[in-house]
Formats: sequence, structure tokens, C-alpha cells
Amino acid sequence: MKANACKIADGVYWVGAIDWNSRTFHGYGIPGTTYNAYLVFGEEKTVLIDNVYKNMIDQLDGRIEDAFAKEGKDIQIDVFVQNHSEMDHSTYLKDTILKYNPDAEIYASPNCAKFLESQYHNFSDLEINQVKTGDEIDIGGRTLKFISAPMLHWPDSMFTLLAEDGILFSNDAFGQHVAHSERFDSDYPVDYLLREAQKYYANLVTLGSPMLRMKLQELTDTGLINDIKMIAPCHGQIWTNPAPIVEKYSEWGSGVCKDKITVIYDTMHHSTEKLAFQIAEGIMSEGVEVVMYFMQNDGPDDVITDILDSKAIALGAPTMMNKPFPRIGNMMYWLDCVNFKGTGSEKNALIFSSKGWGGGAVKKLQDDLEAAGFTVTDTLDVVFVPDEDVLAEAFEKGAELARSIKE
Ligand code: FEO
Repeated sequence: MKANACKIADGVYWVGAIDWNSRTFHGYGIPGTTYNAYLVFGEEKTVLIDNVYKNMIDQLDGRIEDAFAKEGKDIQIDVFVQNHSEMDHSTYLKDTILKYNPDAEIYASPNCAKFLESQYHNFSDLEINQVKTGDEIDIGGRTLKFISAPMLHWPDSMFTLLAEDGILFSNDAFGQHVAHSERFDSDYPVDYLLREAQKYYANLVTLGSPMLRMKLQELTDTGLINDIKMIAPCHGQIWTNPAPIVEKYSEWGSGVCKDKITVIYDTMHHSTEKLAFQIAEGIMSEGVEVVMYFMQNDGPDDVITDILDSKAIALGAPTMMNKPFPRIGNMMYWLDCVNFKGTGSEKNALIFSSKGWGGGAVKKLQDDLEAAGFTVTDTLDVVFVPDEDVLAEAFEKGAELARSIKE
């Protein structure tokens, strides 16, 4: 198909694919996304960095053709760099190599080489040069430096730095799931992009937070952090100003939180809901921000996004069959998977519930939250419908939770 390449620097082009219609990825909601691949022209060699997802090969081919036309060169790709093996960036890697140059040099991390074979079962006939931090290649007046980045977000993840230009091809790290007609951060409000990046980080990278802290420290110690003028991830907009996203990654990875409390609840006959609203009023009375989620309407992915930079949560569920109402269970499962403990943040929690007789939701939620690294500072277990005295107690418990994060 006919598709334009986007020049991001002299001799460097975005040649990826726009996925306008996907609404879920890795199980969480997205407003579409992009699979970013990049062509880098050296004086001696041309390099394709990363690839695209299923049904997107026509876009990649069209943009590669356009990039070579813009450079006034015949199509010839000499080097393939694969920063990560997951299928959204590798579905057509083998096809692309065979189509453009079966004798090309291929570079990837050792785990990436292994994972490609495990996923496609047809890479064993290709020689993949396995690289790590400190390895580099000269493509003629330009140098590609490889930087291992395990668990950002897979064990095979790698960054590639185009040294002379200061462009970091970071694959999933620093990415956002957005699908827009323009390619750069400057084309959209930065707060919007940072929110999408936060959703990406919270749901996919949180577990790798200790590795992120080590990687940022390594980049600082080696001085490479100062060489990065642009970050070109594999999803979403390109950061022509990397400072905001690097600062946010540093904060998210080290548990820096706001004076903000995420209130999460479900309800059967509105009793637990009354408690949720009253607790929120108490929190707000102390000048602390509240984000409210009702699990009948909202998804766990958005809840996880806001918990990432909240100093506390208030979690409510009716008791049903001696356990928390089931929709809360789905959210708790996500919380367990994401595991905020690695960020080093200390998050307080208030648990509340409406029960008919025996109860059970509060104890189950307390056990699960403590296992997930939260400090449960208070509970409120109410029989059926809260009266005015109980609502006043809920208000005060909300206010106390707010005060606890300001101390
Ligand atoms: Fe781990 Fe965007 O793939």
C-alpha cells in the first residue's frame, strides 16, 4: 500500500504501523496504538530497527519504500536490529529479512534470539548476532550502541542508541498506547501522553521497577543519559523532549506518589457505595485528591494506573457468601499480578464493607492487600445499611486516612 515514512532526523525515518482500531492489548483497554519501526541510513549500511504486528506488513512495506524514495536510494536493508521479540514487534521480522536481504546482519539480545525461535520456530537457519551493553556497530559515520534492558519489560528487552544523534530506540519502555496522525510529543498535550504512558507503565512495567532504577542509575553513571536527545519508543509518540517522560519513569519506578487516594468499591444495594462517597468526603475535607472507581463501570487497568501514584487506597466491597463481592476479586487479581512492592512505595489502605450477618469481605481483603504490600491502617465493617452515625464514622475514617499520608 502507499504509506508515508516520517522523517524524525536526517537519515532517520519512522516506518511503523498505525493500529487505529485495537481496543485491548495485554488485556487492558487502549484507544488504538502504533507499532513503531525505524529506518536509519548510514553512509555504508541501512538499518531497520524493530518491526510490526499482524496484518500491518503493508504499512511497513509502503513506508520503507517511501523512506528510500525520499533518500533517493534503491531499497537495500543491510542490518536488522530487534530490540524485543514480542509479536507486536516481530510478526514479520523473518518475512522482512527474506524479502529485503536474506544475507543481512541481524542483532538482538541473547534472550531475544531464543524467544524468536520459541515463538516462530523458523529462526534457526538465520545467524543472529547476540549483543549486550557495551557492544556497538558502525554503519558508516553513525554508531549503534546496544544497551541491555531486561524486564523493561521482558527479559529480552534491549535499547539501541544512535550515538551521534542521541536517539534512543527504547522499544516498549517510555511508550504509550495512542493512535494519532502525527508522530511527535509536540503534536499533543504532554499531560495526555504522560497519562497514557502512566497507564502503560502501571500495567506492564511496574514489576520491572527495580530493574528500571538500576538502568537509570547505569545510564547516569556512564553519562549516556546526557547523550539522549530523543526517545523513539515502539508504541505511541516520539519524545523530542525526553525530560518529562524520563522524570516520570524515575518517579514511578521509585514509588514517588502524590497526596492522592484512590477509592475503589463495588456495591449490591448502595450501602457500600454510601460508605465510599462518605469516605471520599472525609478525604477531600483534608485537601487530598480523590480518584473514584466503581467496579461495575470501571476497568481494573484504570484503577491500577491511579494506584501507581497514590499514597493510599480505600477499598470497599459488600460481603457476599462470606467473601468480597466478585467483581472486586478481578481487580484484586490484577493488583497481585502488578505487584507495587517493587516500586518501594508505602501505601496505606482503608477497607470498608457492608455485610448482612457473618461478614468475611474485610478479612479477605485485608489478607490480600497485606500480601500485596499495602499497610491496612483501618477497617469499617457495617451491618446492612449505614445510618447517620455510621456515615459520620466513615467520614472521619476517610479524613484520618488522608491525614495519615500527609504526616
Ligand atoms: Fe512487549 Fe510492545 O511488546
